Amino acid sequence: MADLTTSYLGLTLRNPLIASASPLSASVETIRQMAEAGVAAVVLPSLFEEQIELRDLGVHDASKANQALLPDALQHIPEMKEYNQGAGGYLAHIYQVKKAVSISVIASLNGYYSGGWVQYARLIEAAGADALELNIYHLATKPHISGTEVEQMYLNLVRSVKDKIRIPVAVKISPYFSAMTHMAVQLDQAGADALVLFNRFYQPDIDPEMEQVIPSLELSDARELRLRLRWVGILAQYVKADLAVTGGVHSGLDMLKCVLAGARVVEVASALLKYGVGHIATMLSDLDTWLAEHGHEALRPLHGRMSQPNVADPAAFERANYMHVLKTGFG
Ligand SMILES: Cc1cc2nc3c(=O)[nH]c(=O)nc-3n(C[C@H](O)[C@H](O)[C@H](O)COP(=O)(O)O)c2cc1C
Repeated sequence: MADLTTSYLGLTLRNPLIASASPLSASVETIRQMAEAGVAAVVLPSLFEEQIELRDLGVHDASKANQALLPDALQHIPEMKEYNQGAGGYLAHIYQVKKAVSISVIASLNGYYSGGWVQYARLIEAAGADALELNIYHLATKPHISGTEVEQMYLNLVRSVKDKIRIPVAVKISPYFSAMTHMAVQLDQAGADALVLFNRFYQPDIDPEMEQVIPSLELSDARELRLRLRWVGILAQYVKADLAVTGGVHSGLDMLKCVLAGARVVEVASALLKYGVGHIATMLSDLDTWLAEHGHEALRPLHGRMSQPNVADPAAFERANYMHVLKTGFG
């Protein structure tokens, strides 16, 4: 087996395959199975900003049930009125997962507004998470909110979380910035230890018969990888932060492409939900086979080998309009 080790967020990982935040990582038992199948780390499902702020809903009594599952240092949390069941349960989950597996455990917070809830990052650190992924989700639908304001919100949040904790912070963003490279550099300067490209949103559908808008989440397919490959390939030269790809990584070859473009790791959800946890071993073994067939003993030297400055035709990463593509053919 080739040496697949990589480093991400200051952690040494046995390979670049991370189980992304999804219902699979909500269960300690499934995480144990994914670790056995070979993932190097797991991202827990996100705890939402709203869950932390919903403390007035009177659900904190139920949180006592989680008390026995918490480490000594956090025994007081379920008693604290500030934290609801969801939030208390989340800390217990981190602690239980850390006890169950030896792979790295990355907690996830989802929000966009830098408020009091950010304090919660400290508890996540205290519960034993190796790193924190901030899934920043903001759909800018209000006409009075400008792109600059949205960007500032993101940066304030990153700075404020970085200020509170010592564990590394990855920032998961969407592809919908008008100036992606500028934004990525700003996030880098705000202290993001990694950028995770890109989160996927629920997209509403319309049911014409019922005249209803239906929320729908479809699993990704490998075509979504292209957008990520482009941006990892371009951003690798501009940011110090590690780069991770999430979205459309379905095979060992997809994983390889991401590493060649400049990603340290991939975070996979859809392929594992679709094909099952056994797919982890298939992806790793396909990657290993490719490396062996091409005479590589280790993956690490291939990192960034096909990022924009390292390819014969750097402009190919930027070609986006039909005229150029049609000249070179399509298919
Ligand atoms: C059912 C489901 C639940 C998810 N929950 C979360 C979540 O809680 N937090 C998060 O950051 N991403 C979440 N994601 C996004 C995935 O972690 C992943 O980034 C995204 O699906 C793209 O990767 P994929 O193409 O491998 O699915 C979820 C995805 C799915 C399909």
